[in-house]
Amino acid sequence: MPVALKESKEYGMIDGKPISATSQPEELSTLITAFRSLRPAIVTLDGPAGSGKSTVGHQLADLVNFLFFDTGVMYRAVTWAALQRGIATQDQVRISELAAHLPIDVMPAAVQETDGRQCTVIVDGIDITTQLRTLEVDQNVSIVSAYGVVRQTLSGKQRHLSQYYGSGQAEKDGIVMAGRDIGTVVVPEAPWKIYLDATSNERARRRYEEMREQGKNAELNTVLKAILQRDDLDSHREVSPLHPADDAIVIDTSSLSPEAVVRQILSLAYQVISQKK
Ligand code: DC
Repeated sequence: MPVALKESKEYGMIDGKPISATSQPEELSTLITAFRSLRPAIVTLDGPAGSGKSTVGHQLADLVNFLFFDTGVMYRAVTWAALQRGIATQDQVRISELAAHLPIDVMPAAVQETDGRQCTVIVDGIDITTQLRTLEVDQNVSIVSAYGVVRQTLSGKQRHLSQYYGSGQAEKDGIVMAGRDIGTVVVPEAPWKIYLDATSNERARRRYEEMREQGKNAELNTVLKAILQRDDLDSHREVSPLHPADDAIVIDTSSLSPEAVVRQILSLAYQVISQKK
């Protein structure tokens, strides 16, 4: 069984004082105000599929008026474009060329969008946001995201986005950027790095429930197998494999609600920010 965060659990030291998840029972508004003083206003949120990055990232970003950006959509957009063009995902040369030249526009969702999206993704002049999570894209995206040139190209775009939104001068006050290598490779200088994890069984259960809610047919065992396969590909690829940054705070979300995880993040950040003052 995974160990959930405990009362006394410490997350390292800052200026000789330990930081812990629960030692500051501050008002949420106090935590939010402190968090919004982060500069650059960049939070990295890495972890495996189903660890809660999207749910937690959305909630956190909404609370502090940051943009939530899930970098997985960029790898999915290249995969979608390859499938559209009939390019085999095993063809590394053509996929790399495609990634280098494909204009991918990502923008905060317009107010009138009602499908729960935070970002809109435009490729080939088409809004492909709702086409990024099909089974076909799911089955091919780990292959595409293992190519070094693809990663280099997309990491560069992600870095630009983080600088733009992290400056606090954009339409949002900062950015919560989710992925697999954001704290380790894309923005290693980010002031606040989170790595979410959960047991594979719990992550499969969450995906299974999500699929059922969307009316998709799924077997829990098949979903678990797919999760384990993706973990294996993401963690063992040569370029930017999935692992927590040395200075990331690792939170096991297996037995925590998204709200509890958000509060943990805010209260840990509050301690670090207050101790640094
Ligand atoms: O988070 P997701 O399931 O939408 O990610 C899709 C794929 O993209 C997944 O196989 C991991 C990969 N990915 C990555 O390698 N690096 C990122 N920063 C984001 C996603």
